[in-house]
Amino acid sequence: MTQEPFPGPHSPETGNHSFFPQESPGRVRLSEVIGAVSYALDMTEGQPPGHCLRSCLIGMRIAHPFNLGTGERSDLYYTLLLKDAGCSSNAARLWELYGSDDRSIKADFKTVDSQQLLPLARFVFRHAGNGEPLASKLRRILFLSRFGEALATELVQTRCERGAEIARHLGFGEAVSRGIFSLDEHWNGKGRPQGLSGQKIPLGSRIALLAQVIDVFNHLGGPERAIREVKSRKGSWFDPELVESFLAFSNDPDLWKGLLDEGLQERVQALEPSERFLSPDDHLLDRMAEVFARIIDAKSPYTHDHSRRVAHYGEVLGISMGLSRDQTNWIRRGALLHDLGKLGISNAILDKPGKLDPDEWKEMRKHSLYTEEILRRIGIFFRLSKIAGNHHERLDGAGYPHRLTEEEILSETRVITTADIFDALTAARPYRGPMPIAQALDIMEREVGQGIDERCFRALRDCISHFSRPSDSLKV
Ligand SMILES: [Fe+2]
Ligand SMILES: [Fe+2]
Repeated sequence: MTQEPFPGPHSPETGNHSFFPQESPGRVRLSEVIGAVSYALDMTEGQPPGHCLRSCLIGMRIAHPFNLGTGERSDLYYTLLLKDAGCSSNAARLWELYGSDDRSIKADFKTVDSQQLLPLARFVFRHAGNGEPLASKLRRILFLSRFGEALATELVQTRCERGAEIARHLGFGEAVSRGIFSLDEHWNGKGRPQGLSGQKIPLGSRIALLAQVIDVFNHLGGPERAIREVKSRKGSWFDPELVESFLAFSNDPDLWKGLLDEGLQERVQALEPSERFLSPDDHLLDRMAEVFARIIDAKSPYTHDHSRRVAHYGEVLGISMGLSRDQTNWIRRGALLHDLGKLGISNAILDKPGKLDPDEWKEMRKHSLYTEEILRRIGIFFRLSKIAGNHHERLDGAGYPHRLTEEEILSETRVITTADIFDALTAARPYRGPMPIAQALDIMEREVGQGIDERCFRALRDCISHFSRPSDSLKV
């Protein structure tokens, strides 16, 4: 069935096919955007949904008796929400070192007292070379034992530096980026990456580490387990004064009830001390989409710059098709975030040096649904969640996650899908090198009308010469 997918910006049909301004109710809270995307960070860390939000609730309450000023509380608030911002940057390295699911490694590591040798050795034995022949597992264990100290520092350092850099790119000040950078420092100086001790560790980092451990152990064994763990690490991992602040309210049932998922996001938003707002045409939204694209692309060496290239191609396609500035803006943002859900997929799948088996494909396909679910948490991004989350739907109804029909696939999505397929074919993959453009276009042409919109494909063929590749070159 043919359909004109791109009515002009003033066409009466645009209600069905364009994004803004129809659905723009006004401004969006910065805390709403950061809170929603923190779910993506939870997935990368292998944590149950809402971990960063719960850490924020706990951390803000721990800080309460210290009478911080509004600015300091706001810095702490965003430190807590973004504490895991650098988490995607060491996932591929973890998979390379352990040969196992990076998400379970990260999740389990949060339960281990890394200052104790025996639990650490058990942890390595549990995760190194899972599913591999015994000789290979032992080789990994030997390597990890021999270079463990240096490797741990390398992994933490990568994560901290990246997290701090991301906070700066998002426009937060030094207090937030330093708070994130020093998250893994311990009160007794045995943490990483700098071995800071006591008051030399920024207050935000001390509170974030404590709040994180409370949430992890509450999830594992309830409040009693969390309280026990905190007491046992008082003075080694944790600032004793902060521990006392937590213990003073740890018997309050409202605290633990408040951590339940229903209404969690709203409760955390209500705690934002300085209420910052963004408008939908704010360039900060673009910057945020750019920054999150970097977090997504850092997850795997094979997706390096993928989101940004898809955004560039999508924008060029949109312009060449005569779409409005608003539409191309939202195509670019949608393209930057289309694979946000890949943060929830293990690198054992993303970086597998071979074809995926049916179960792995099933897992991989969940990423577009994750993208949709995360973006849908931001009120004004409802339509963007569809634009981005449906990028693997097909005109013939055989796509995923919803098996939409041709009429149900938005115009902006069709542009992103075309750009995404083009980049997937012309970039290197774990199991093959980059494909020459002519071959990629041949393959795509066979999909026109089934997986690829005809008008988008024509635009792609006509404007390839206008594409620039930020970090690698197209093979002609
Ligand atoms: Fe995708
Ligand atoms: Fe993609």
